[in-house]
Amino acid sequence: MFRFSLRAAIAAVLVAVAAAAAGGVVAATRSSDEAALQPIRQPADRSIESRVNDLLSRMTLEEKLEQVTLLPDFKVTEDEVRRGLGSILSLTDPARIRELQRIAVEESRLGIPLLFAFDTIHGFRTVFPIPLGTGASFDPQVASDDALFGARESAAAGLKQTYAPMVDVSHEPRWGRIAEAAGEDPYLNSVLSAARVKATQGTDYSARDKLVASPKHLVAYGEPEAGRDYNTTDLSEERLRNMYLPPFKAAVDAGADTAMCSFNAINGVPGCGNRYTMTEILKREWDFDGFIESDWTAVAEMRACPPVNPGPDVQPECGHGVAADGPDAAALALNSGVDSEMTSTLIRDFGAQLLDEGRISMSRLNDAVRRILRVKFRAGLFENPYSPFQPGEVEAQMLRPGAVAAARRAAGRSMVLLQNEGGVLPLDPSKNTAVIGPLADNQHDMLGPWWGVGRDADVVTVRAGIAEQSTGTTTYAEACKLSNLEVPQWNGDGCGPDADFTEAVNVARAADQVVLALGETREMSGEANARSTLDLPGRQEELIQAIKATGKPFAVVLFSGRPLALENIVGDAPAILEAWFPGVQAGPAVADVVFGKVNPGGKLPASFPYRVGQVPIHYNRLPTGRPCNKEVKWNSQHRDIPSCDPLFVFGHGLSYTTFEVSNLQLSSSSVSRNGSLRASVDVRNTGDRAGDEVVQVYINDPVASISQPIRRLRGFERVTLNPGQTRTVTFTLNRSDFGFYDNRGRFVVEPGRIDVYAGNSSAAEMKQSFTVR
Ligand code: BGC
Repeated sequence: MFRFSLRAAIAAVLVAVAAAAAGGVVAATRSSDEAALQPIRQPADRSIESRVNDLLSRMTLEEKLEQVTLLPDFKVTEDEVRRGLGSILSLTDPARIRELQRIAVEESRLGIPLLFAFDTIHGFRTVFPIPLGTGASFDPQVASDDALFGARESAAAGLKQTYAPMVDVSHEPRWGRIAEAAGEDPYLNSVLSAARVKATQGTDYSARDKLVASPKHLVAYGEPEAGRDYNTTDLSEERLRNMYLPPFKAAVDAGADTAMCSFNAINGVPGCGNRYTMTEILKREWDFDGFIESDWTAVAEMRACPPVNPGPDVQPECGHGVAADGPDAAALALNSGVDSEMTSTLIRDFGAQLLDEGRISMSRLNDAVRRILRVKFRAGLFENPYSPFQPGEVEAQMLRPGAVAAARRAAGRSMVLLQNEGGVLPLDPSKNTAVIGPLADNQHDMLGPWWGVGRDADVVTVRAGIAEQSTGTTTYAEACKLSNLEVPQWNGDGCGPDADFTEAVNVARAADQVVLALGETREMSGEANARSTLDLPGRQEELIQAIKATGKPFAVVLFSGRPLALENIVGDAPAILEAWFPGVQAGPAVADVVFGKVNPGGKLPASFPYRVGQVPIHYNRLPTGRPCNKEVKWNSQHRDIPSCDPLFVFGHGLSYTTFEVSNLQLSSSSVSRNGSLRASVDVRNTGDRAGDEVVQVYINDPVASISQPIRRLRGFERVTLNPGQTRTVTFTLNRSDFGFYDNRGRFVVEPGRIDVYAGNSSAAEMKQSFTVR
């Protein structure tokens, strides 16, 4: 018990420190409908461990094996619940949740409540922008709002765990799941991960509007070879620890009490069979006393496949080939650290046999059960197994005004103005505007991948949002349809050969200005949706050229779940606004930005390459002995691309005003290994309207025992400034910033020079140096 209290206290301090460093990660509590779901807090229960042990001592082996089983809604039977099933995922019907919970509590022998889990990734019913968009906000408050309202709505339905935050750092825009986290940087992902956990759980997730968070997917799932989902990863110890683990550590430090192991293998070891990452690092090194659930059938997938292909309609659930059969996979998973098996039931099915054979131990099984019960007690499920709302009252808790307003604000803050030649944007709302393109009058795609229980009908389209804010006329043409990636094979032929742009061109000609809504469908990113190109699908580039030929001022608003390769459109489209998938308030948020009510201030959380062949290309890359130099040959470059860099770098984003970032100063020219120093920088709004700038601080360690990334983000702050206003932003740098993990997994702080760069993108050139003594 002492350990738990101490851990909670340390976590609270760490969160406060992280919050301060991040410019204030504050749980958002500003909505007008706050009172509706006031937390009903349980007094801190100091006897949880003894309650866990008491319950455990009364459980039969069968009940323990049920407790470590986690089944999806469509697989679960009431009999299993009566036998003591542990958890259920993806059930969202409040009446059914309540009924199954009633059976668990009243009709199972020990009355242990079920834990109901769901993927509330960027909103439950009130769908917020995809997490890549939230990453672009560089604003922990946006992540916090998303998680807060997501938890609130989910909890109202009777859920108590979310499989979020997804914190997989990724340098792979081909990978569809890059949509689900904050992009290519571990620091940005860490700050937002902590903010999300804090808002999901609060200080006590037994509160009736809170959930237990589950950072995923442990680990390095974001770097699959070729960007193909589920594919393998091979990486060094230093890269594992410097690049992929930090956001998980931040989540655990913020109090996350569950975690999910990943499908992919690293160095030949599948995530859910990896004792090193699950047990050695997460549970021992980080002192994590919650539980780990496997990803969907990930335990079964560790088996070798049978010689005969089971056929197209059968999920093979096999393939890694690190286990011969079901018992082998179950033993490997449990012994490696999996506590709860999702969808497959191998631990339950073979647990007794494995115990008899001595291949798993009762103490390890007890440990897994203890961890699950501990989380259930901390979640207050034994006192309050049900939602505070009757099923009939739940709908009224969805899409409440405070949540919808926060979603609109979040969407606006996530948008990134990539270019704005001639100041095309903002458009004048009193002029006649044509809204054109396959995503212009579209509800479905605006929700993005993982739409929770969001409904297309909840979405305000771009067309409607523009019409609402325009005092001129608003006209519309779809121009072409995008195809749907739901089908297994997709040849990218959306907006295809038979598309006829005549009407779109006529509509553009008749208007004063044009908003072109282009991009991907929501099925083109997310799980299992890798692409081999990053271009605008179909003939959308041609559509841009056709609109350009009308001579009308126009802006392209892009919707996508990944960085796109925009080489072919930057020359034709004067203004490009990346809007990601903005969620239910897509239309109002786009109109806010397009008409200048909101001045865009988002920054790219991942590099946008010229073309797919550059991938992976990311700002935090390691140097080489032949740095790219376009003047000469024999160095590290793509010779058929005019630049050493991506088209738009990490951290890039424009505004309708201009800023100057200057006067980088360090508080000291040297620092001891355990000391700290401050870096301060001035940011001034040099334009004529109020706006946001994200001040960014990067470091580089130019001489180290192993090569260090050419830049590493170590601080950022999004500030709002009036014209002429200047703000000094100060960052504290300490060993966690200038040290790094080596290839033996040790955190080292080496003496020598550290260069600090500050500016408004990863291309910042202003530099100062200090020495670590
Ligand atoms: C995904 C997880 C998700 C789980 C449950 C899996 O296919 O990889 O991210 O949490 O399904 O829905």
